[in-house]
Amino acid sequence: MSERFRIGLLGHGTVGGAFAELLRERADGVEHVTGLRPEITGVLTRSRGNFDEILENADLIVEVMGGLEPARDYVLRALRAGRHVVTANKQLLSRHGEELWDAARERGAQLRFEAAVGGVVPVIRVLQESLAGAHIDRVTGIVNGTTNFILTEMARSGLSYGEALAEAQRLGYAEADPTEDVNGADAAAKMAILARLAFDTPVHLDQVVYEGIEHLTSDDMQYARDLGLGLKLIGTAERIDGGLAVRVHPAFLYAGHPLASVAGPFNAVTVESPAITEITMSGPGAGGPQTASAVLGDVISAMIPPAQTPPTRERLEIVDDVESAFYLHMEVADRPGVLAQVAQVLGLQGVSIKSVVQKGLGENARLVMVAHPILESKFYAALEMIAGLDFMRARPRAIRVIEAEYV
Ligand SMILES: NC(=O)c1ccc[n+]([C@@H]2O[C@H](COP(=O)([O-])OP(=O)(O)OC[C@H]3O[C@@H](n4cnc5c(N)ncnc54)[C@H](OP(=O)(O)O)[C@@H]3O)[C@@H](O)[C@H]2O)c1
Repeated sequence: MSERFRIGLLGHGTVGGAFAELLRERADGVEHVTGLRPEITGVLTRSRGNFDEILENADLIVEVMGGLEPARDYVLRALRAGRHVVTANKQLLSRHGEELWDAARERGAQLRFEAAVGGVVPVIRVLQESLAGAHIDRVTGIVNGTTNFILTEMARSGLSYGEALAEAQRLGYAEADPTEDVNGADAAAKMAILARLAFDTPVHLDQVVYEGIEHLTSDDMQYARDLGLGLKLIGTAERIDGGLAVRVHPAFLYAGHPLASVAGPFNAVTVESPAITEITMSGPGAGGPQTASAVLGDVISAMIPPAQTPPTRERLEIVDDVESAFYLHMEVADRPGVLAQVAQVLGLQGVSIKSVVQKGLGENARLVMVAHPILESKFYAALEMIAGLDFMRARPRAIRVIEAEYV
C-alpha cells in the first residue's frame, strides 16, 4: 500500500467540484506515476470546512475559490507552513505574485498555477521549463475564451455584440456577470503573469494597458473582411526599446497570423524568440473539467520533484506608447474632397495609408482604411482632428491591426 498524499481543497464550485471528481477517477493512475496515493482530506466552501484544520491535514493545498481575500491569506499561510499550493487564480497572481513566489521560495514549497492562464494550454510549463533558456522577444495570446467566442460569432453569423454575448451565456461560455471577460481585465491579468515569466521582470496587473470588446460592431468585421482581416482580442507582451510593453486590445489580424484561425472558446499563445522562431500552443480556454485537468497536472508535478519560480533579475521599464497599424472606419458625408481632407489630416501627423475602401452612397457613405504603423499617440491625435471635420456623420472608429505575417 502506497503512502498517502493529502490534498486540502479550497473551493468546491465549477473547478473544485470537477477536480474532486477527476481525482477520484484518476487516483490509480496518479499513484502509478508518483508512488503516492492522492486523497482529498478537507474541503472548504463558504458553508463548510475550517482552513486551519484543512491545512494541518494536508501536504498540498489546491486553491480554486477565486477572489483576492481570503485566497491570498490562505495561500500565504499554506506556503509559510511549507505546503505546496496549486492555484487557478489569475487575479491573485497578477496582483500579489511576487509576495507569493517569495513565500514559496523561502520555505522550499512549490506554487504552481498552470490553470491560471490559458485553460488547459500548458503555456506556464513551456515558459518555465521548455523555454527557460530562450531569449523571448514577444508573447502574443488569445487568452480569454469568452471574448473569442463572441468575436467568432459576430464575424461568422453577423450577430451584434449583445446577441453574441447572450449566445455565449446560453452555451455556458460566459458568466452571468461577464464584465471582467468583455472589458479585457481577465486577459490583462493573464498577460501580466505570462509577461512576468517570459521576460523575468515584475509585472503587476496595474501596468497592463487594456481595452475590451464591448464597443465593437459587426459591420467593422464585415468591412475588414474585404481587407483580408479578422478581429481578435489580443494580449501582447513585447520588448520595445529596452523596455517591456504589455497590452490587451481588440486587433485585426491577417489570415497568415498563427492566431487568426483560433475560433470559438479556444485559447492560444504564440511565443517568439530568435532561437526558436515561433511556437504556438492552443486548446480549450476554460471549463470545469478542462481546468481541473490542468490543476491535476500541477498536483502530480508537485508530488514528484520540486520546481521553483525564481525571483526576477530584470527591472524593465514599462513602455506605453508603441507603434501600431490601424484600421479606421469613418461615416462621412457623400461629397467630393472628403478623402483628400482626411488624407491631409493624417499626413500632418505622419500617418500614411496602406489601403482604402469607399463604400455606400448618401447616408451610408463610408471610408474605411488601413494605416501603416505609427506611434499610437500620433494616430490618436490625427483621429481627434478627423472627428472634428464637418463632414463626419459619427465619431471615427479605430482598431489596431497586427501586420506581422508568418509562414
Ligand atoms: N471556471 C473556469 O472555467 C475557470 C477556468 C480557469 C480558472 N478559473 C479560476 O478558478 C477559480 C475558481 O473558479 P470557479 O469557476 O470554480 O468558481 P465557483 O464556481 O464560483 O466556485 C468557487 C468556490 O469557492 C468557494 N468560495 C468562494 N469564496 C469563498 C470564501 N471566502 N470562503 C470559502 N469558500 C469560498 C465557493 O463556496 P460556495 O460553494 O459556498 O459558494 C465555491 O465552492 C477562480 O480563481 C477562477 O478564476 C476558473
